[in-house]
Amino acid sequence: MLFDIDESHQHYKKIKNIERYVENGSSLTRQLLGFAKGGVHRVRVTDLNELIKRTSDMFGRAKKEIKIHTNLLKKIWPVEVDQGQMEMVLLNLYINAWHAMPEGGDLHLLSENVVIDKGYGGNLKVKQGEYVKVSVVDTGVGMDKKILEKIFDPFFTTKEKGRGTGLGLASASEVIKNHGGLIDVYSEKNNGATFNIYLPASDKKVIQEKELTRKILKGTETILLVDDEEMIIEVNQEILKTLGYKPLIARTGKQAVEIYKNSKDKINMVILDMVIPGMGGGEAYDSLKKIDPKIKVLLSSGYSISGQAAEILERGCNGFIQKPFKLRELSVKIRDVLDEK
Ligand SMILES: Nc1ncnc2c1ncn2[C@@H]1O[C@H](COP(=O)(O)OP(=O)(O)OP(=O)(O)O)[C@@H](O)[C@H]1O
Ligand SMILES: [Mg+2]
Repeated sequence: MLFDIDESHQHYKKIKNIERYVENGSSLTRQLLGFAKGGVHRVRVTDLNELIKRTSDMFGRAKKEIKIHTNLLKKIWPVEVDQGQMEMVLLNLYINAWHAMPEGGDLHLLSENVVIDKGYGGNLKVKQGEYVKVSVVDTGVGMDKKILEKIFDPFFTTKEKGRGTGLGLASASEVIKNHGGLIDVYSEKNNGATFNIYLPASDKKVIQEKELTRKILKGTETILLVDDEEMIIEVNQEILKTLGYKPLIARTGKQAVEIYKNSKDKINMVILDMVIPGMGGGEAYDSLKKIDPKIKVLLSSGYSISGQAAEILERGCNGFIQKPFKLRELSVKIRDVLDEK
């Protein structure tokens, strides 16, 4: 996800932002919903234990009143998942558990290998076969039958206005289904809740992150970052500076055009969010292109590359990157665009 940066010691600010990220359940849900709509992207052979550790560490740091217990099977089978989506699904379950334990409590995270056949889990609505099961168990207020029936419905929430959209579980369920899996729940009123996720096991081997990643590439050019989300701006501005670049910021398409008009000889490339206020990314791209037909633009979006993004790319945009950015990926894509002849 956004903070997939190894050099964690120098990123105190990063941790702070994760806290805010977890704090702000609604923007999380928006992300998740975007994922759910877009289907499955960027599938990677994954060790779910690693993902559980990563997400629960970041959650635990933000919510100290929740005690996290993990019981993860060492030889867990690999699964093929979109790691970003799966992280969001897990974080959403943790946040729900936190809401269900206003006085604090225990969160148990378990992983195991299961074979679903007629005997085990025969009533589960998935194909028979090998699955990895992840359980998220809390000691919170629980749910009665009437609520349980509705929790996966879009917009069903028992939370006050502004606190919940009721989309968390609906989109989580959509994401898991897109992966050929299943999510189910057990709960009783005043007796906690258990969410189980089943994901099909893969016979491929997990490739270590280190083998996959290319080197971080740096530069000194000036980059105009166009985005309207304060947190994205803040984090990416830091990342760009860390990489050696000089970032300029625009929060609307109009601002971007103005800044580009005034400093086009100084600006070497633009990172343009597709969804910005006023004129959208597409119109902004066309206006920028009018000022400088040779402009270099890396398009960014929280959604996968489809529809609108694909159209803009066809009009000559130089590349696409999905938000949240990963440091290495961003560093490589920036150089790809800048070094393009
Ligand atoms: N661990 C849990 N314990 C008790 N109730 C839960 C738990 N998880 C979910 N619920 C119930 O299910 C409802 C729907 O959850 P869901 O995550 O879909 O939406 P939300 O949390 O209300 O809003 P959002 O996730 O969009 O912020 C919640 O409002 C709550 O009533
Ligand atoms: Mg929720």
